[in-house]
Amino acid sequence: MTTSRTLIGSRSTGIGSRALAVALSLVTAPLLVVTSAAHAHAANPTLRSLAEAKGRYFGTALTQGDLNAGGETSIAGTQFDAVTPGNEMKWDTTEPSNGRYNFGPGDRIVSFARSHNMRVRGHNLVWHSQLPSWVGSTPLNQVQRVMESHITTEATHYKGQVYAWDVVNEPFNDNGSLRHDVFYNAMGTGYIADALRTAHAADPGAKLYLNDYNIEGENAKSNAMYNLAKQLLAQGVPLNGIGFESHFVVGQVPASVQANMQRFANLGLDVAVTELDDRIHLPAGSAGLQQQASDFTSVVRACLAVSRCVGVSQWGVDDAHSWIPGTFPGYGAATMYDGNDQPKPAYHAVVSALGG
Ligand code: XIL
Repeated sequence: MTTSRTLIGSRSTGIGSRALAVALSLVTAPLLVVTSAAHAHAANPTLRSLAEAKGRYFGTALTQGDLNAGGETSIAGTQFDAVTPGNEMKWDTTEPSNGRYNFGPGDRIVSFARSHNMRVRGHNLVWHSQLPSWVGSTPLNQVQRVMESHITTEATHYKGQVYAWDVVNEPFNDNGSLRHDVFYNAMGTGYIADALRTAHAADPGAKLYLNDYNIEGENAKSNAMYNLAKQLLAQGVPLNGIGFESHFVVGQVPASVQANMQRFANLGLDVAVTELDDRIHLPAGSAGLQQQASDFTSVVRACLAVSRCVGVSQWGVDDAHSWIPGTFPGYGAATMYDGNDQPKPAYHAVVSALGG
């Protein structure tokens, strides 16, 4: 600023001092803006600071293993302001046998989040998967009691520490029918309302979500989720949000992501992108990485365009710790950071989509 004032001053012969002051303020105001934007860029804005400036969070999943890993944790704590435990709050960890609870692993994730000033998305209370076998062999007339005890004990343990709970995870089949898991078999469709009410009683401050995959675009499965959400709200069930997992294949982000989020938001619900990744058939070439950057951009833009979209979480910090290669053989490179924790084109695209 000193330089520009001097330059202008030296050129301003014959202008009165008041006129000079006005001229200076007109010239320097835009310069200030340019300078501070340039400064923010030079200071490497983080995903979390940019998201927060837009009233959103930017999260990641973390596992206990990740916490021991090193480089990845420093990225987790500086770039992201929300954590979803990758596995540590799931039933097989938290209640491996009937009535015996283990919150140690989840507590470690929560304490990492706390020390880095991150919010926690609790994941999850009721799910057909990563469910210990004793639940499946519980007599059907006792499943409701077992489910309610599990929810009450876990949600009470984390009361006040989680921003949101995925209360029921992945309730639907792709054709829009409810999965016939042990909870459905014992209680019918009503298990979902019962789970939400039980969670609300235990932690009335937590935002309660239903979370699923392949509901990001408009299709049979998202229609079924929409109809369920509408019914639950009409019945006064404490449902606050819908989580769109968003495990995409590169180049296949549905065009209707924003419109689909918006219809749920119009019901009065929060929406969130909860487990974003975008897998590429390996080896990933530069075309794939560019397409991935554009996919991440469309997802982030959709969230920013829907005022009730509260945030985006990526499923894991980097390609080296992503669940994709282990679950989808031949695929990988699904996150914004490569295996050496270097930002990929998707990272830079997200920074710019967030206004950085
Ligand atoms: C995944 C974890 O990342 C893996 O470590 C685990 O082996 C299986 O589950 N949908 C979800 C997440 O809701 O809980 C899943 O996480 C990924 C798909």
